[in-house]
Amino acid sequence: MMRRKWQLLGSGLAGLLFVGAALAGYWVPLAQDNLHDPEGPAIGVLQEPAEALSRLPADTSGNQVNWVRALEEGVIHPRTNLRPETRVRIRETPVLMKNTGEMPMVLFPHRPHTLWLDCANCHEKYFVSKVGANPINMYKILQGEYCGRCHGAVAFPLTECNRCHSVPRKEARP
Ligand code: HEC
Ligand code: HEC
Ligand code: HEC
Repeated sequence: MMRRKWQLLGSGLAGLLFVGAALAGYWVPLAQDNLHDPEGPAIGVLQEPAEALSRLPADTSGNQVNWVRALEEGVIHPRTNLRPETRVRIRETPVLMKNTGEMPMVLFPHRPHTLWLDCANCHEKYFVSKVGANPINMYKILQGEYCGRCHGAVAFPLTECNRCHSVPRKEARP
């Protein structure tokens, strides 16, 4: 299951490879990305990131594409699987994560994740499926655990604090 879904990510989100390479506002041409051979025959044949990605809903971080909107708005139609028996499981319920100190709370949205991933990509190995059962903190996330397995690698970067910490604390402050 893991492998199959990562293949979906692989084919659907080939552009995410450029997460690290993209600079604010533009896409690095293939010949300058330090991945492709600038002298090779593929240059001029392969589609340039700017040509492909500039047509998708824009974002301000990572590779400058809002992939969730691209999917929700039907701009892209990634293939779920080569095998017809694959069942896509969507979960709508978000989870409010309150252990955030002074920061706004984290609203973990199941829906956009399950549009891209299967439950087994996260449960039960990386996240126990029980509210509050995971001893998560920012240090571990920055070390590549929990949300940090994907965010900063194939999903939007960890510098975007407010995308996760999106629910203000209502308590009045003294
Ligand atoms: C990909 C999502 C995500 C991003 C981006 C993110 N956080 Fe967090 N953060 C979390 C989660 C999840 C927790 C744990 C919540 C829980 O267990 O209830 C957390 C916990 C925290 C905590 C409390 C625990 C601790 O380690 O002290 C602080 C403070 C915090 N984050 C600050 C930040 C700051 C500052 C940024 C931006 C530089 C940031 N976070 C970016 C998801 C994120
Ligand atoms: C990207 C990772 C990820 C994926 C994919 C994912 N979950 Fe979760 N799930 C979480 C996180 C994070 C929590 C919150 C855990 C916590 O509060 O510590 C959670 C919590 C839960 C919970 C307990 C809270 C609740 O909503 O009742 C259940 C049940 C659950 N998930 C089921 C599923 C199912 C079923 C799927 C597939 C349809 C799925 N999850 C897909 C990360 C994921
Ligand atoms: C297995 C990989 C994976 C893990 C683990 C993961 N995410 Fe994500 N997340 C994604 C992908 C893929 C997207 C969609 C691409 C993007 O927005 O960059 C996404 C998108 C999001 C979004 C944006 C949703 C939207 O509507 O735009 C939020 C918020 C988010 N994740 C929070 C979290 C938090 C909080 C955690 C940890 C509790 C977490 N994610 C763990 C892969 C993951």
